[in-house]
Amino acid sequence: MKTRTLISIAAIAVSALIAAGAQAAVDEAGAKELLNENGCLNCHDVTKTKTARAYKKIAADFKGKAGAEAAITKHLTEPSTVKLGDESIDHPQVDADPAQVKNLVKWILSR
Ligand code: HEC
Repeated sequence: MKTRTLISIAAIAVSALIAAGAQAAVDEAGAKELLNENGCLNCHDVTKTKTARAYKKIAADFKGKAGAEAAITKHLTEPSTVKLGDESIDHPQVDADPAQVKNLVKWILSR
């Protein structure tokens, strides 16, 4: 009985720690899931330039700019046109709830 109580106290402590950590840090797995689900990686790689800029390059371009998070959020949630080679294409939007989009934006900006 005693051991059991100790184990459950330990389990509660560990889950509290995990919850605190998850709040502070970017959810890497969640961000990657959205990238996969929305086909983002067809055009953007994380580090290499494909048809579109790598997320690392995008993060570097936005570094230190005020409103970076707002600008990218807008780009991913409202219709926009981008240049892909000689063509203008409608940029895809992210199909997810605002918290997930916010996490993805933070993930992109922290590459
Ligand atoms: C059909 C190809 C294509 C797909 C799919 C695509 N993008 Fe893009 N994206 C582009 C192009 C082209 C640009 C603009 C030029 C560049 O960044 O190289 C761009 C720009 C961006 C930017 C920079 C916006 C800015 O204001 O500078 C971000 C962030 C971005 N895309 C994220 C995403 C995410 C997240 C997804 C998935 C929902 C996605 N893209 C899917 C082609 C694509």
